[in-house]
Amino acid sequence: MLAKSIIATALLSFVASASEIALYWGQAGANTQQESLASYCSKGDADIFILSFMDTFSSADAQMDINFSNACGGTRANNGLMECTQIGEDIKTCQKLGKKIFLSLGGASGSYGFSSDSVAEGFAETLWDYFGAGTGKSTSERPFGDAVVDGFDFDIEGGGATGYAALATKLRDYYAQDSSKTYYISAAPQCPYPDSYVGDLLSKAKVDYAFVQFYNNYCSVDGTFNWDTWADFAKSAPNDQIKIFLGLPGSSASAGSGYIDTDTIKSTINGAIAANNANFGGVMLWDASSSYANGNFVSDLRGVLDGSSSGSSDSSSASASSDSASAVTAESYSSAEQSEVSSAAESTEAPAYSSVSSTEATEATSYSAPAVSSTGVETSSNPESPAPASTSVAYTADSSTNCYSIHSIYPS
Ligand SMILES: *[C@@H]1O[C@H](CO)[C@@H](O)[C@H](O)[C@H]1NC(C)=O
Repeated sequence: MLAKSIIATALLSFVASASEIALYWGQAGANTQQESLASYCSKGDADIFILSFMDTFSSADAQMDINFSNACGGTRANNGLMECTQIGEDIKTCQKLGKKIFLSLGGASGSYGFSSDSVAEGFAETLWDYFGAGTGKSTSERPFGDAVVDGFDFDIEGGGATGYAALATKLRDYYAQDSSKTYYISAAPQCPYPDSYVGDLLSKAKVDYAFVQFYNNYCSVDGTFNWDTWADFAKSAPNDQIKIFLGLPGSSASAGSGYIDTDTIKSTINGAIAANNANFGGVMLWDASSSYANGNFVSDLRGVLDGSSSGSSDSSSASASSDSASAVTAESYSSAEQSEVSSAAESTEAPAYSSVSSTEATEATSYSAPAVSSTGVETSSNPESPAPASTSVAYTADSSTNCYSIHSIYPS
């Protein structure tokens, strides 16, 4: 027991020294006036900010679009893209504070997807020129002006899996052209493994961060936590240094299920995660506004990751829970897998949406809601299966529900 305590303490020290907090920002998940990006950066708790979302894209030639709810709007450049001057300034402010800023592609609402790997590869230059260090576009054509993001995130929740591995691999070619700083690729799979939309990306391309959404699914911390599945994936991932994040709701209102308090986060990190933590990278929260509207949640979490929190769990109880948590996870995983579809289908928070062919916007077929599709679709999530006929998925949140249960676009 003593030996286990010492091991648990040593693991915690290792975890704390490397752990980061990543916050999605842009969609005003708290349904309140979202503060500026720089405001959240200057609070000092988080390390990575993921701008959400670029929610419309399909090729280098098609019109793309971005959406940051109340943080940008109104003015559009001649190329049809919103001019988000303040976000551009804030990106630079945040970077001076040592924060990493990623642009997230996807989200639960939008119109996106690629018809082939080569089309997706062609889009890498577009991203690099408009948001990276590429020189192909003038400053006035770039939504964030001369600000250069630190990477691109894939929060793909519809529209098929085609092209994302090719795009990420191609982006790395562009990254290599600028040795002045480090660029990153991240993805936000839902916790059922493998993810229907970014599973292919994660298995084929080098990804730096996986912000696993341990919420709205059976595999959350308060469900049948499948951390080991992700930790084991990491060991044989194309980038075996990939950082796996515990992705959580920032408040009980920001997801349909899966919210846990900081004491539970601490006991999870010291328990089930410590037992298999070589690739643990930290905690992701959806989203900045809801997390900071939730009392001291983010600063308390910072304390937990720094090992300075006076949470209820000490290292000896952590070592005990390490044993039991792993055992529970291993034993109950397979049976939970079978019930996931029905439990996900019970969600009442899921917005309805329809898939729309990129060429024929009126030819809509009915889709299951994202919370269902993330798991329901998993039964047909073989990445090798052919892409659906439609190359993009367009869907809108049901404004009659508070659809913060997924990485949602702020309902209008
Ligand atoms: C962002 O997306 C929401 C939800 O689809 C929409 O209501 C809103 O108009 C969009 N904002 C901009 C600036 O495009």
